[in-house]
Amino acid sequence: MRIADIPTPALLLDLDRLETNLVQMAERAQHLGVRLRPHIKTHKCIEVASRQRALGAAGITVSTLSEARAFVEAGFTDLTWAFPLIPGRLDEVMDLARRARPAVLIDGPEAVAALSAAGTALRVFLKVDCGYHRAGVDPEGELVLTLARRLTDADHLEFGGILTHAGHSYHCRGHEALLEVARQERDVMLACAARLRTAGIPTPTVSIGSTPTMSVIDDLVGIDEIRPGNYAFHDLSQVVFGAASVAQCALTVLSSVVSSQTGAGRSIVDAGALALSKDSGPTDLGHATMGAVFAHYASSRLEPEIHLTALSQEHGHLNAELPVGRRLRILPNHSCLTAAQFDSYYVLQGERVVDRWRVHRARGG
Ligand SMILES: Cc1ncc(COP(=O)(O)O)c(C=O)c1O
Repeated sequence: MRIADIPTPALLLDLDRLETNLVQMAERAQHLGVRLRPHIKTHKCIEVASRQRALGAAGITVSTLSEARAFVEAGFTDLTWAFPLIPGRLDEVMDLARRARPAVLIDGPEAVAALSAAGTALRVFLKVDCGYHRAGVDPEGELVLTLARRLTDADHLEFGGILTHAGHSYHCRGHEALLEVARQERDVMLACAARLRTAGIPTPTVSIGSTPTMSVIDDLVGIDEIRPGNYAFHDLSQVVFGAASVAQCALTVLSSVVSSQTGAGRSIVDAGALALSKDSGPTDLGHATMGAVFAHYASSRLEPEIHLTALSQEHGHLNAELPVGRRLRILPNHSCLTAAQFDSYYVLQGERVVDRWRVHRARGG
């Protein structure tokens, strides 16, 4: 099968680019002297994670219990659920703990109380806010000491260490701006670990990481583990940040022009929000497209004038009048959310389909 035979809309994964991205981050981690625990929420794919493991990944990071179960079933037993513990789902974590070695994440006293009451042996990370202000305790406050001490003192719990994610790097443009956030992420966590250790609390692992920060950081002495995810595919947003080039973007959506009215100056493709997601990318950085269009994928050339302006559920609005039937390869704003819209990848080498890989995107129960 060749790309021309694939029914649209379809999720395409360029195998050579994927493998180059995986090798590059594995080498960065090795060079920086840290363990790599990739976030598999980007790809939700056993075949990609197997490649990451073959390149030396020390376990995986997941964002949902459904991901956790799918990957445990496939033999990935060392995993961190890097999402604040959902109180009502402790039974499922306990079930996982019978088959694997999951670590969970907490950032408040309620979760510690729930874990203490459950009495299950579990490794627990304390989430620290390094400046993103999404979740996590203040690294300079009292709570970080109180919670770390409670986790350390609980007989059945193992305090895994501290963990952060510099999601505010997604609002930065250019190497210097990214490096500033990357150093902040590292330094806040080093200072927090030093505080805990000075207070007599052993802190085994300091875990950090996002793709933009890990793409630029130059020194990680004192950090144990990094957890980037998006680097496997990259996307248009990473290109805007300056964390990746178009030539590194491994994930595209193949679509067809399905409607084009003469003289209207626009057309519709069969890739809408349920193919590309509604992620509008870094609009605060002046980014004003819902997806770019490749003029030529192999040479990483984007159409300079043609792009998606809006997305409805299944319709993608293109700002150019193209003939019905024309097939386009779209570079999404956010590859993680795009991959999660599809059941499988068409894995390509050049124009040739060499495999189909499943996206483990089940949700809920
Ligand atoms: C807790 C956590 N760790 C790691 C990551 C990976 O970040 P990225 O996708 O930028 O590599 C994320 C992404 O949202 C995250 O939420």
